[in-house]
Amino acid sequence: MQTLLEYIVENISARNSLHGKKLQGNLKKFDAEYFTRAEQFLTKYVYLLQSQNKTLDYAIDCYLQMIADINYETVQFIHTGEYSSKTFDEVNARVYNNPEVMEYYVHGILMSQFLWAHHYGILVFFNNIIRENCNQINRYLEVGGGHGLYTSEAIKIIGDKTKYDLVDISQSSIDIARLMINNDKVAYILSDIFKYDADEKYDFITMGEVLEHVEDPGKLLKKLFTLLHDDGKLFITAPTNGPTIDHIYLFKNADDIRKVIHSAGFEIEKEFIIYAEDVPADIAEKNKVTMMFAGVLKKPKK
Ligand SMILES: C[S@@+](CC[C@H](N)C(=O)[O-])C[C@H]1O[C@@H](n2cnc3c(N)ncnc32)[C@H](O)[C@@H]1O
Repeated sequence: MQTLLEYIVENISARNSLHGKKLQGNLKKFDAEYFTRAEQFLTKYVYLLQSQNKTLDYAIDCYLQMIADINYETVQFIHTGEYSSKTFDEVNARVYNNPEVMEYYVHGILMSQFLWAHHYGILVFFNNIIRENCNQINRYLEVGGGHGLYTSEAIKIIGDKTKYDLVDISQSSIDIARLMINNDKVAYILSDIFKYDADEKYDFITMGEVLEHVEDPGKLLKKLFTLLHDDGKLFITAPTNGPTIDHIYLFKNADDIRKVIHSAGFEIEKEFIIYAEDVPADIAEKNKVTMMFAGVLKKPKK
């Protein structure tokens, strides 16, 4: 019997053969645990989509629309060396505050967590970090949760006793995160993170792929510094050279990201780097291949 993953890759390949080939190549890199996890995730996803009168074909449409957007932005990026959007106001109007775009975009990103080897690699790294820290997490915050997969994974590992908050600027993201996490104990907060204040400091903050969405990533990290407990940990991810419809701050390499982290007062406890294409690092850097940076940050000891 065909698995959900096979169904998705077959359908994507029929509609975009070049991208389909890339996904088929990705599947060859994964281990047995990946296939079990992907099928578990997709089974839950299909069930949740059905609860909204949507189907897996709808999610495939969303994913392919996101890929078309990325291809368009990539052509611009190769031509100009810059991201096409420059300001928060531009992407707020074009994406976060535009339900039609945000809906397909967030479902597209969600699918990519299991279809792209580099996104899956980051997810595995995140799971390991949560496992290492789970005994010290009473207050958990996710910033820019988007599809909510990270908080959903964190709850599976840490359990229900922790208090979870998820802040996102987009109502569409909040709606999809609420659906995916499917847990009423999580507080879903519609807010710009810069305007958000909490009654207590957090032990763990997760912020996947938000740093490149703001005009001043250093200011964003400084804001998270104030929200984090002195012994707390901050998990971040950010791409270099990753053009898409709502990226405005261009990190050209991992050092650009490290500099911003240090300028905000954080130390890097651990980091993990993975390229979007399976090529040696020097070739990837030279050709501006997208790289994902994941870091576990902490405050220096007083
Ligand atoms: C690319 S998605 C990331 C989704 C998920 N965290 C991940 O790693 O795949 C970026 C998310 O950040 C949210 N976001 C962007 N700027 C924000 C801000 N200033 N405050 C809160 N959320 C923001 C967007 O609405 C979107 O849901």
